[in-house]
Amino acid sequence: MGMFATGVTVVTVEVGGEAHGMTANAVMSVSLDPPLVCVSVNRRARMDKFLERAGGYAVNILAQDQQALSQYFSGTWPHATPPEHRLVPWTGGPRLVGCLAAAGCRVEGTLEGGDHRIFLGRVLDLYRADGALSPLLFFAGRYHQLRDPALAPLAPVDVWNPEEVQIFYDD
Ligand SMILES: Cc1cc2nc3c(=O)[nH]c(=O)nc-3n(C[C@H](O)[C@H](O)[C@H](O)COP(=O)(O)O)c2cc1C
Repeated sequence: MGMFATGVTVVTVEVGGEAHGMTANAVMSVSLDPPLVCVSVNRRARMDKFLERAGGYAVNILAQDQQALSQYFSGTWPHATPPEHRLVPWTGGPRLVGCLAAAGCRVEGTLEGGDHRIFLGRVLDLYRADGALSPLLFFAGRYHQLRDPALAPLAPVDVWNPEEVQIFYDD
């Protein structure tokens, strides 16, 4: 699944007045009606216990210039002082200022997933930054960026006529 290119999020919670964030890319939109998303969390992550207590979370979708935050919230930031960032109180959990978009959720249920646990969240609030910001991407264990930042999405492939298509099996 490392070959499945994803964006990068920081999932945040607030427990006992304290904010906690965890970098996550095992995040998925589940349903539109009702609006549901989910995140798969390692049972050994502190976030697993925090989520149990919090009852809600926010999924913050990182912008291209927030790689340092991804590293910080995944415990791979090499410096003693955190990279500059600001969390503001929001729905489900704190919102990371500068993110591309965010979904504020209430935990609707959990699903056992081996050494992970899946937290299903009902989306209660949405945020989207103004302007054409570019996402931070993760692929094959490394960070990437769009070559042509969000301005030039690929055109759809030409619609083909199925009657003209021939499929050959073996020879
Ligand atoms: C790009 C990226 C994506 C990650 N995605 C997940 C994920 O979806 N679920 C998870 O449990 N850990 C994920 N991790 C690992 C956690 O961020 C890491 O284990 C973190 O230190 C756990 O934090 P905590 O123990 O403070 O809660 C990811 C790490 C990176 C760098």
